[in-house]
Amino acid sequence: MPIPLMDVSAQWSSLVPRLKAVMGEVVDSGRFILGPQVAAFEREAAEALDARYAVGVANGTDALVLTLRALEIGPGDEVICPAYTFYATPESISAVGATPVFADIDPDTFCLDPEAVDAAVTPRTKAVMTVHLYGHPSPMRALKAVCDRHGLALVEDAAQAFGARLDGTPVGGLGDAATFSFFPTKNLPAFGDGGLVSTQRQDLEDAVRMLRFHGSRDKQTFELVGYNSRLDELQAAILRTLLPELDGWNAARRAAAERYRELGLGEHVGLPGVADGAEPVYHLYTVRSPERERLAAALRERGVASALYYHRPHHLQPVFAHLGYAPGSLPETERAAAEGLALPMFPTITAEQQRDVVEAVASAVAPV
Ligand SMILES: Cc1ncc(COP(=O)(O)O)c(C=O)c1O
Repeated sequence: MPIPLMDVSAQWSSLVPRLKAVMGEVVDSGRFILGPQVAAFEREAAEALDARYAVGVANGTDALVLTLRALEIGPGDEVICPAYTFYATPESISAVGATPVFADIDPDTFCLDPEAVDAAVTPRTKAVMTVHLYGHPSPMRALKAVCDRHGLALVEDAAQAFGARLDGTPVGGLGDAATFSFFPTKNLPAFGDGGLVSTQRQDLEDAVRMLRFHGSRDKQTFELVGYNSRLDELQAAILRTLLPELDGWNAARRAAAERYRELGLGEHVGLPGVADGAEPVYHLYTVRSPERERLAAALRERGVASALYYHRPHHLQPVFAHLGYAPGSLPETERAAAEGLALPMFPTITAEQQRDVVEAVASAVAPV
């Protein structure tokens, strides 16, 4: 039997009757936009994230754009972010007219390196947008210290990390604001697009709430040029049904990561690290191999799926050519982009499937 990279529906298949029931309740209610389901999900998500406020939006990309707008970041401003991430991270910065400034990453966790961030600060820097990549929390304490020293806002792009913790505290309430995606492959999935902004700051909550509805509080008076970017009632009802399952699913992902280690995967490829105090949620399980193309081909032959993510980092993408980054300017980013390979990881992966993955890897590459 082929082993998939992820299995989106297996985790919630036993909940289908309940999911159909709650969708039916929304249909019967006749309320589809900004109703009681969204309001309740916002309360429940804020509680899960230890955040004072949460605002549902249309997707994780809009969550980033609205957060930057709420922070009044725009033309002439710089925002420091990684180049090894999904494109939406730097894209959102350009979308508000600001300039992304790329800083290098920690090779162990794939997250921003606080020293590299510090070195990238200029008089135009307004914020740092860190990414909890693959579900591993960024080094928030060190990043916060850099931001405090320079008077910068700190945004968490937590699209891949709902439920991850750092020193026991969930990501999502650790910076000025955090953003989430509920794209169907994410750890907390919707059945379509969805997103969220969480924050401890009432001024940001207020601004994001206005921005998601055309810059208006009351649908009559328009204070800002905003967006139509709302989480809908159906998605909110689905998310409310799945949220109580998330901790269990994330624990299963962590157990699977531990099992890969116990099975000796690390004898053949570099395993993702775990920083002190970090409780990652393994949205993706990305290993490193200097022979990753050969490894991917050998896995494919044995029916084991794998995937390259972010193999052309953003400082070298055509859209950012005008920023003038040369190859070699972000060495750890470029090495991660050249060596990273995501292996099968999902809450319902079995020990037998993981054994097959490790055997397939072992037969393809010599021990390191
Ligand atoms: C790190 C990161 N940021 C932002 C996004 C954007 O989220 P969405 O696809 O919901 O717009 C994603 C997910 O696709 C992501 O992985």
